[in-house]
Amino acid sequence: MEIADSNAASASGPDTILEGTRFVRACLRKPVDRTPVWFLRQAGRYMQEYRDVRKHHTLVEICKQPELAAEVTITAAEKLGVDAAIIFADLLLPLEPMGLPFEFQAGEGPTVFHPIRTAEDVHALRTDRAADLAYVARAIEKVAAHFRDHLGIIGFCGAPYTLASYMIEGGGSRNYIHTKQMMYGDTPTWRLLLDKLVTVLTEYCQLQVQAGADVIQIFDSWVGSLSLSDYRDYALEASKRLVRAVQQMGVPVIYFGVETAGLLGEMASTGADVIGLDWRQPLDEGWRAVGHGHAVQGNLDPITLFAPLDVLELRVHEILRAANGRPGHIFNLGHGIVPGTPVENVQAVVRMVREFRLEAKHA
Ligand code: CP3
Repeated sequence: MEIADSNAASASGPDTILEGTRFVRACLRKPVDRTPVWFLRQAGRYMQEYRDVRKHHTLVEICKQPELAAEVTITAAEKLGVDAAIIFADLLLPLEPMGLPFEFQAGEGPTVFHPIRTAEDVHALRTDRAADLAYVARAIEKVAAHFRDHLGIIGFCGAPYTLASYMIEGGGSRNYIHTKQMMYGDTPTWRLLLDKLVTVLTEYCQLQVQAGADVIQIFDSWVGSLSLSDYRDYALEASKRLVRAVQQMGVPVIYFGVETAGLLGEMASTGADVIGLDWRQPLDEGWRAVGHGHAVQGNLDPITLFAPLDVLELRVHEILRAANGRPGHIFNLGHGIVPGTPVENVQAVVRMVREFRLEAKHA
């Protein structure tokens, strides 16, 4: 591990620049020695070490064996030299204890065996078995023991809207027809479903925080499928309750979605400490829409990682200049690393972020 560029916490007085990891400090908009950086889906198929583990285990097997999940998490974070490690798990894990088994089919994404469509289906969902997800907490404990105070440790869960869409559609979706049919056509059932999700996700996050997660990221990956009015009327309130419940546990929350340019102000109204930005809008515009009272995370197009290094550097610098040294920027992609991404380009971005200095005219 890189100690020269260490994140190590120090007991040198109240709120010095050394107190807390630079990642957590940036989440709280405190000054940092340099911009922290990590990557969505930093442990994944683009990395040979991950593919080697996947030869012998399914995705869900890795998630359920804390030793393996911790190893995959740690290997990726160390190989890249990032400032935070996101626990290796999957968004859909809470579906199983709620009574909805699923599987990942090779190359096709998740399939939920019996998607929910009716009030009876929603009533039958269980909310009393979140403790079955303790294997994720055990993995976090191992990662926390390994990194101690050197790296930020991120736990995560899906947001109620995005998880509900998987439960109803039975997998990924293009138009979210069944989801929106329930949302508009049987709103009491829709609200009951989100309530049940908030109950389970709150307990799941509690397990992760108790195990050592420094920050929780809530993935509302597919919230960009909603209009502003529908977001307000059908999704915002449940997300807000989850964000507030996690903050009560004493950790900052990152709230992330894709294609959210029109929703950012409302997403910020959840009170999340950090809002994730995708790449479709310049970072400074996104930050303005979020409001400077929140930190932001982003926002490189993940496919820029396939570009020649000089083009890549131009885009990385553009983002850092748009952040303009304002406390509360965490460098990341606008969405996850895709298979086939050259690992050395991801490492190059880490170097570029570490070495970047604002020129005087921007400072
Ligand atoms: O390094 C990390 O980011 C941690 C691990 C992580 C995984 N899934 C492992 C995984 C995280 C944070 C997730 C979150 C997740 N899972 C999201 C939200 C993030 C986002 O992309 O918006 C979503 C929507 C899911 C559901 C999911 N899992 C899908 C749609 C797929 C299939 C798509 C694909 O890339 O094939 C997965 C599979 C999955 N989860 C993989 C990994 C590394 C790749 C497949 C594999 O290893 O077999």
